[in-house]
Amino acid sequence: MSTRGAGAQARVLMIGASGRMGRAIVRVAAERPDVRICGAVVSAGSADLGRDAGELAGIGRIDVPLRADLAAALAECDVAVDFSSPAAAAANLAACVAAARPLLIGTTGLGTELAADIERAARHIALLVAPNTSLGVTLLLELVKRASQALPDDFDIEIVEAHHRRKKDAPSGTALALGRAAAQGRGQNFGEVAVTDRNGARRSGDIGFAVVRGGDIVGDHTVVFAGSGEQVQLMHRATDRNVFARGALAAAAWLCGRASGQYHMRDIIL
Ligand SMILES: NC(=O)c1ccc[n+]([C@@H]2O[C@H](COP(=O)([O-])OP(=O)(O)OC[C@H]3O[C@@H](n4cnc5c(N)ncnc54)[C@H](OP(=O)(O)O)[C@@H]3O)[C@@H](O)[C@H]2O)c1
Repeated sequence: MSTRGAGAQARVLMIGASGRMGRAIVRVAAERPDVRICGAVVSAGSADLGRDAGELAGIGRIDVPLRADLAAALAECDVAVDFSSPAAAAANLAACVAAARPLLIGTTGLGTELAADIERAARHIALLVAPNTSLGVTLLLELVKRASQALPDDFDIEIVEAHHRRKKDAPSGTALALGRAAAQGRGQNFGEVAVTDRNGARRSGDIGFAVVRGGDIVGDHTVVFAGSGEQVQLMHRATDRNVFARGALAAAAWLCGRASGQYHMRDIIL
């Protein structure tokens, strides 16, 4: 549990500090009075070990060197923020439980085998797993659930997402979360209706996914409710990676001092 007092700055440990998101979070943190980057972790084989996190993020020296010793870094922070890789997620989670530090996992593409670890970890620490930390997407998830509840079942649900050419997972974690929200609204079992491999005809009740990859697209998500003679589309477009960084830091500050349990981005805005 954090020892941070009310109104104090949350000391944030950035896991994945040399990455695109890690650098954005370090930059945005410098603009916020409620958080301070106090540690920066990368993999043991990183080419950036020892470099200053602020210099790497383009904001000048902040005297936080990139290191690989996660346990030591956790001892000096109030909350950890992980935007690294699915392969590192289980070890990062276990380290936060061992250090009794709240954790925001922003990494996407997590394997289903991590679900049990996440559930167990949330008995010991405040934990928030957010495939999309944008506040706009958080609202979109609620709107999609509401729309799928309200519209008749003969409105077919399709989810279209687009991201930059370097993105590794497909469909995006956000697209899957939107699909889950839509299935939940209709009382469907997501695993039974999600179709990510489009071969052959559409079955009634399916939630279909389409993926676009290219250029520097930050992240577009559209949920289509296609009925007969009318269509409803709910869309979110991120044009700046900083929206994820701002939401992640808001969530990190919010997590400090919370009781153990699994939290969601909607807990922050609703
Ligand atoms: N939740 C959201 O809103 C949101 C938004 C955008 C992206 N994401 C997700 O966030 C993740 C990172 O995205 P990105 O674009 O920043 O990727 P990236 O540029 O490839 O950065 C990955 C970072 O993770 C570090 N890393 C790799 N293995 C590690 C380990 N074992 N321990 C500690 N650090 C390790 C890398 O450092 P070294 O290679 O230097 O070790 C690098 O700093 C992805 O899963 C992405 O899909 C989530």
